[in-house]
Amino acid sequence: MLAIIGGSRLAQLPILQVTHRQIVRTPFGDPSCALTFGRIGSQNVVFMARHGYGNSIAPHEINYRANIWALHSVGAKKVLAIGSVGGIRPDMAPGMLVVPDNIIDYTWGRKHTFYEGPDRPLVRVDFTHPYDAELRQVVLAAAQAGQVPCIDGGVYAVTQGPRLETAAEILRLQRDGADMVGMTGMPEAALAREMGLQYLHVCHIANWAAGKGSSREHILFADDALADGMAKVQALLAALSGD
Ligand code: HPA
Repeated sequence: MLAIIGGSRLAQLPILQVTHRQIVRTPFGDPSCALTFGRIGSQNVVFMARHGYGNSIAPHEINYRANIWALHSVGAKKVLAIGSVGGIRPDMAPGMLVVPDNIIDYTWGRKHTFYEGPDRPLVRVDFTHPYDAELRQVVLAAAQAGQVPCIDGGVYAVTQGPRLETAAEILRLQRDGADMVGMTGMPEAALAREMGLQYLHVCHIANWAAGKGSSREHILFADDALADGMAKVQALLAALSGD
Protein backbone atom coordinates (compact mmCIF):
# COMPACT_ATOMS: atom_id res chain seq x y z
CA MET A 1 0.00 0.00 0.00
CA LEU A 2 1.19 3.48 -0.92
CA ALA A 3 0.94 6.25 1.65
CA ILE A 4 0.57 9.81 0.40
CA ILE A 5 1.25 12.68 2.75
CA GLY A 6 -0.36 15.83 1.43
CA GLY A 7 1.13 19.24 2.11
CA SER A 8 -0.43 22.62 2.82
CA ARG A 9 -1.90 22.85 -0.68
CA LEU A 10 -3.18 19.30 -0.71
CA ALA A 11 -5.40 18.71 2.32
CA GLN A 12 -7.71 16.62 0.15
CA LEU A 13 -7.02 14.38 -2.78
CA PRO A 14 -9.83 14.72 -5.36
CA ILE A 15 -8.66 11.75 -7.46
CA LEU A 16 -8.82 9.39 -4.47
CA GLN A 17 -11.86 7.09 -4.39
CA VAL A 18 -12.38 6.96 -0.64
CA THR A 19 -13.38 3.68 0.98
CA HIS A 20 -13.10 4.55 4.67
CA ARG A 21 -11.39 6.64 7.31
CA GLN A 22 -9.60 5.45 10.42
CA ILE A 23 -8.47 7.23 13.57
CA VAL A 24 -5.11 5.85 14.69
CA ARG A 25 -3.62 6.37 18.14
CA THR A 26 0.12 6.06 18.65
CA PRO A 27 2.57 5.91 21.59
CA PHE A 28 3.72 9.37 20.46
CA GLY A 29 0.35 11.08 20.56
CA ASP A 30 -2.15 11.90 17.85
CA PRO A 31 -1.32 12.13 14.15
CA SER A 32 -2.33 15.25 12.21
CA CYS A 33 -5.64 13.69 11.18
CA ALA A 34 -7.59 10.48 10.67
CA LEU A 35 -6.21 8.37 7.83
CA THR A 36 -8.22 8.23 4.61
CA PHE A 37 -8.12 4.91 2.74
CA GLY A 38 -9.07 4.37 -0.87
CA ARG A 39 -7.87 3.77 -4.38
CA ILE A 40 -6.34 5.81 -7.14
CA GLY A 41 -6.91 3.66 -10.21
CA SER A 42 -5.79 0.19 -9.17
CA GLN A 43 -3.43 1.44 -6.47
CA ASN A 44 -4.45 1.07 -2.81
CA VAL A 45 -3.66 4.30 -1.04
CA VAL A 46 -3.72 5.70 2.47
CA PHE A 47 -3.78 9.48 2.59
CA MET A 48 -2.85 11.84 5.38
CA ALA A 49 -2.99 15.64 5.45
CA ARG A 50 0.24 16.71 7.14
CA HIS A 51 -1.21 20.00 8.40
CA GLY A 52 -4.60 18.43 9.31
CA TYR A 53 -7.71 18.50 7.14
CA GLY A 54 -8.37 22.08 8.22
CA ASN A 55 -4.77 22.99 7.32
CA SER A 56 -4.29 24.37 10.82
CA ILE A 57 -1.12 22.67 12.11
CA ALA A 58 2.04 24.75 11.58
CA PRO A 59 5.22 23.00 10.31
CA HIS A 60 6.99 23.16 13.70
CA GLU A 61 3.90 21.84 15.52
CA ILE A 62 3.28 18.77 13.37
CA ASN A 63 3.63 15.52 15.28
CA TYR A 64 5.89 13.89 12.70
CA ARG A 65 6.53 10.84 14.87
CA ALA A 66 2.82 10.10 15.30
CA ASN A 67 2.23 10.59 11.56
CA ILE A 68 4.97 8.18 10.47
CA TRP A 69 4.09 5.70 13.20
CA ALA A 70 0.43 5.74 12.13
CA LEU A 71 1.23 5.11 8.46
CA HIS A 72 3.59 2.27 9.36
CA SER A 73 1.04 0.74 11.74
CA VAL A 74 -1.59 0.40 8.99
CA GLY A 75 0.82 -1.43 6.70
CA ALA A 76 2.16 1.32 4.44
CA LYS A 77 5.53 0.39 2.95
CA LYS A 78 6.09 3.34 0.64
CA VAL A 79 5.52 6.99 1.42
CA LEU A 80 5.17 9.68 -1.19
CA ALA A 81 5.43 13.00 0.59
CA ILE A 82 4.10 16.07 -1.19
CA GLY A 83 5.31 19.44 0.02
CA SER A 84 5.42 23.01 -1.16
CA VAL A 85 8.75 24.80 -1.34
CA GLY A 86 10.31 28.06 -2.47
CA GLY A 87 12.63 27.91 -5.47
CA ILE A 88 16.25 29.01 -5.04
CA ARG A 89 17.94 27.62 -8.18
CA PRO A 90 17.12 29.61 -11.33
CA ASP A 91 15.28 26.72 -13.03
CA MET A 92 13.16 26.03 -9.94
CA ALA A 93 10.37 28.42 -10.89
CA PRO A 94 6.91 28.60 -9.30
CA GLY A 95 4.58 25.94 -10.71
CA MET A 96 7.35 23.37 -11.29
CA LEU A 97 7.57 19.94 -9.67
CA VAL A 98 10.87 18.69 -8.26
CA VAL A 99 11.92 15.32 -6.89
CA PRO A 100 14.84 16.34 -4.65
CA ASP A 101 17.71 13.94 -4.06
CA ASN A 102 19.14 15.27 -0.83
CA ILE A 103 18.39 17.30 2.28
CA ILE A 104 20.01 19.85 4.57
CA ASP A 105 18.20 20.07 7.88
CA TYR A 106 18.09 23.49 9.61
CA THR A 107 15.17 22.67 11.90
CA TRP A 108 15.55 22.60 15.66
CA GLY A 109 13.58 21.51 18.69
CA ARG A 110 11.40 19.03 16.81
CA LYS A 111 10.90 15.48 18.06
CA HIS A 112 13.12 13.94 15.43
CA THR A 113 13.77 10.33 16.43
CA PHE A 114 11.98 7.21 17.68
CA TYR A 115 15.16 6.22 19.53
CA GLU A 116 14.65 8.25 22.66
CA GLY A 117 14.56 7.37 26.34
CA PRO A 118 16.68 5.18 28.62
CA ASP A 119 15.40 1.77 27.45
CA ARG A 120 15.83 2.39 23.73
CA PRO A 121 18.85 1.12 21.82
CA LEU A 122 21.25 3.62 20.26
CA VAL A 123 20.71 3.21 16.53
CA ARG A 124 22.41 5.34 13.94
CA VAL A 125 20.46 4.94 10.73
CA ASP A 126 22.31 5.56 7.50
CA PHE A 127 20.98 8.72 5.89
CA THR A 128 23.61 9.38 3.19
CA HIS A 129 20.87 9.23 0.57
CA PRO A 130 17.71 10.25 2.42
CA TYR A 131 15.27 9.32 -0.34
CA ASP A 132 14.45 5.85 -1.57
CA ALA A 133 16.16 5.08 -4.89
CA GLU A 134 13.59 2.54 -6.10
CA LEU A 135 10.57 4.76 -5.39
CA ARG A 136 12.40 7.62 -7.05
CA GLN A 137 12.80 5.66 -10.31
CA VAL A 138 9.12 4.62 -10.24
CA VAL A 139 7.92 8.20 -9.71
CA LEU A 140 10.23 9.71 -12.34
CA ALA A 141 9.19 7.03 -14.85
CA ALA A 142 5.51 7.77 -14.11
CA ALA A 143 6.14 11.48 -14.60
CA GLN A 144 7.72 10.78 -17.95
CA ALA A 145 4.97 8.38 -19.04
CA GLY A 146 2.28 10.85 -17.96
CA GLN A 147 4.15 13.78 -19.57
CA VAL A 148 4.27 15.61 -16.27
CA PRO A 149 7.27 17.96 -16.27
CA CYS A 150 9.37 17.20 -13.21
CA ILE A 151 12.91 18.26 -12.28
CA ASP A 152 15.05 15.27 -11.28
CA GLY A 153 17.22 16.07 -8.27
CA GLY A 154 18.14 19.00 -6.09
CA VAL A 155 18.92 19.73 -2.47
CA TYR A 156 16.00 20.54 -0.18
CA ALA A 157 16.82 22.89 2.72
CA VAL A 158 14.39 22.45 5.58
CA THR A 159 13.89 25.53 7.75
CA GLN A 160 12.11 25.84 11.05
CA GLY A 161 9.39 28.34 10.11
CA PRO A 162 6.67 29.26 10.43
CA ARG A 163 8.03 32.55 9.16
CA LEU A 164 9.58 32.66 5.71
CA GLU A 165 13.31 33.29 5.35
CA THR A 166 15.22 36.55 4.94
CA ALA A 167 17.01 37.25 1.66
CA ALA A 168 20.34 36.82 3.49
CA GLU A 169 19.27 33.45 4.87
CA ILE A 170 18.39 32.28 1.37
CA LEU A 171 21.84 33.36 0.11
CA ARG A 172 23.38 31.35 2.92
CA LEU A 173 21.28 28.29 2.04
CA GLN A 174 22.38 28.72 -1.58
CA ARG A 175 26.05 28.85 -0.53
CA ASP A 176 25.43 25.70 1.47
CA GLY A 177 24.27 24.00 -1.72
CA ALA A 178 20.49 24.17 -1.35
CA ASP A 179 18.24 24.42 -4.43
CA MET A 180 14.83 24.76 -2.76
CA VAL A 181 13.53 25.58 0.70
CA GLY A 182 10.59 24.24 2.67
CA MET A 183 9.59 23.64 6.28
CA THR A 184 8.26 20.10 6.53
CA GLY A 185 10.82 17.81 4.89
CA MET A 186 12.42 17.03 8.24
CA PRO A 187 12.24 15.17 10.53
CA GLU A 188 9.64 13.36 8.43
CA ALA A 189 12.17 11.77 6.05
CA ALA A 190 14.49 10.64 8.85
CA LEU A 191 11.64 9.15 10.88
CA ALA A 192 10.48 7.24 7.81
CA ARG A 193 14.01 5.86 7.43
CA GLU A 194 14.07 4.84 11.11
CA MET A 195 10.79 2.99 10.52
CA GLY A 196 12.17 1.24 7.44
CA LEU A 197 9.70 2.92 5.08
CA GLN A 198 10.59 3.74 1.49
CA TYR A 199 10.18 7.52 1.41
CA LEU A 200 10.30 10.08 -1.39
CA HIS A 201 9.52 13.75 -1.59
CA VAL A 202 7.75 15.42 -4.49
CA CYS A 203 7.96 19.18 -4.09
CA HIS A 204 5.91 21.72 -5.92
CA ILE A 205 7.38 25.16 -6.10
CA ALA A 206 4.92 27.68 -4.71
CA ASN A 207 7.07 30.83 -4.93
CA TRP A 208 10.53 32.19 -5.49
CA ALA A 209 12.47 32.04 -2.23
CA ALA A 210 13.14 35.37 -0.49
CA GLY A 211 15.20 37.69 -2.70
CA LYS A 212 14.93 35.43 -5.77
CA GLY A 213 12.90 35.74 -8.97
CA SER A 214 11.70 38.97 -10.52
CA SER A 215 9.98 40.35 -7.41
CA ARG A 216 12.92 40.61 -5.03
CA GLU A 217 11.19 42.85 -2.53
CA HIS A 218 8.80 40.34 -1.02
CA ILE A 219 7.58 36.80 -1.54
CA LEU A 220 4.71 36.33 -3.96
CA PHE A 221 2.43 33.31 -3.99
CA ALA A 222 0.77 33.49 -7.40
CA ASP A 223 -2.56 31.67 -7.69
CA ASP A 224 -1.88 30.45 -11.22
CA ALA A 225 1.47 28.90 -10.24
CA LEU A 226 -0.14 27.22 -7.23
CA ALA A 227 -2.98 25.83 -9.35
CA ASP A 228 -0.47 24.71 -11.97
CA GLY A 229 1.65 22.92 -9.37
CA MET A 230 -1.38 21.17 -7.86
CA ALA A 231 -2.61 20.06 -11.31
CA LYS A 232 0.83 18.56 -11.95
CA VAL A 233 0.79 16.72 -8.62
CA GLN A 234 -2.63 15.22 -9.43
CA ALA A 235 -1.46 14.24 -12.92
CA LEU A 236 1.63 12.61 -11.47
CA LEU A 237 -0.39 10.63 -8.92
CA ALA A 238 -2.78 9.50 -11.66
CA ALA A 239 0.14 8.42 -13.86
CA LEU A 240 1.69 6.60 -10.92
CA SER A 241 -1.49 4.62 -10.37
CA GLY A 242 -1.77 3.59 -14.00
CA ASP A 243 -4.75 5.85 -14.73
N1 HPA B 1 10.34 29.04 2.37
C1 HPA B 1 10.05 28.05 3.22
N2 HPA B 1 9.03 27.22 3.06
C2 HPA B 1 8.25 27.38 1.98
C3 HPA B 1 8.48 28.40 1.05
C4 HPA B 1 9.59 29.27 1.25
O1 HPA B 1 9.87 30.20 0.47
N3 HPA B 1 7.51 28.29 0.10
C5 HPA B 1 6.73 27.23 0.45
N4 HPA B 1 7.17 26.68 1.59
